[in-house]
Amino acid sequence: MTTTTPIDYVHGYSAHESRRLGDQADTLAQLLHADTAYPAGSKVLEVGCGVGAQTVHLVEAGPKTHFTAVDISAASLAQARARVTAQVPEARVTWHQANLFELPFADTEFDHLFVCFVLEHLAAPRQALAALRRVLRPGGTLTVIEGDHGSAFFHPDSPYAHAVIDCQVQLQAASGGNALIGRELHPLITGAGYDDVTVRPRTVYADRSRPALVNGFTRNTFTAMIESVREEALAADLITPTDWDRGIADLHRTASEDGTFHYTFFKAVAVNPV
Ligand SMILES: C[S@@+](CC[C@H](N)C(=O)[O-])C[C@H]1O[C@@H](n2cnc3c(N)ncnc32)[C@H](O)[C@@H]1O
Repeated sequence: MTTTTPIDYVHGYSAHESRRLGDQADTLAQLLHADTAYPAGSKVLEVGCGVGAQTVHLVEAGPKTHFTAVDISAASLAQARARVTAQVPEARVTWHQANLFELPFADTEFDHLFVCFVLEHLAAPRQALAALRRVLRPGGTLTVIEGDHGSAFFHPDSPYAHAVIDCQVQLQAASGGNALIGRELHPLITGAGYDDVTVRPRTVYADRSRPALVNGFTRNTFTAMIESVREEALAADLITPTDWDRGIADLHRTASEDGTFHYTFFKAVAVNPV
């Protein structure tokens, strides 16, 4: 954690977490973003850009789109700017440190909003979505992407592996978030006042015939995320050290020769009513 950590963010702001977010975004770019394209000249706000892991893919797909990216963490924002500048030097991005509940933008300023892996960390996700409508023009679109840890199933199955995943779910809930939020996107977005809400599952399935996914998702995204909360899980007495180590070892087995791993993300698109 940095000394400027602005919120109780379960995954933290470490270099390890920054790398994990990058691996996650690069591995999943096709699955999550292939159908996200913003028209030339339109104004897009990425809310909670973190270290810019998704921003890179957005700007690559929209070279003539005007992107603005905000995050509450100044340290993450600085990393995002460095990442995007290094990878896509010609990108047009304006960076702001801001709380999404108090955005420093005029009403209806943006044509589109993009929110990825942010709502799962908020205590009031519906209120956040409702607040964001202020800066979105009538008829503009909202895109939200979230995961749902309840969608993780794998082979070999293991109660210990499920137990370590459940530690993450409990820790995230204790800090006000919801690691099972993917299944709630439709009611949340509808409840925040958007129209034409469509939610579609995006499934990741990895076995040895897809080594890039085994490495990029099963190992370096999902298992790495669970491993990173070891100390917090033990400190909160959610599990014994022995059972933790067994659960993590069993998660790694799902990335072995005969292992398989399944996880579902949810991608929602909605319209701000005219
Ligand atoms: C899991 S990260 C996701 C980052 C990025 N969207 C991605 O997919 O790689 C969540 C981000 O949301 C940011 N965040 C959390 N609450 C926020 C708030 N109230 N306003 C702005 N950003 C916030 C955190 O600082 C963090 O960078």
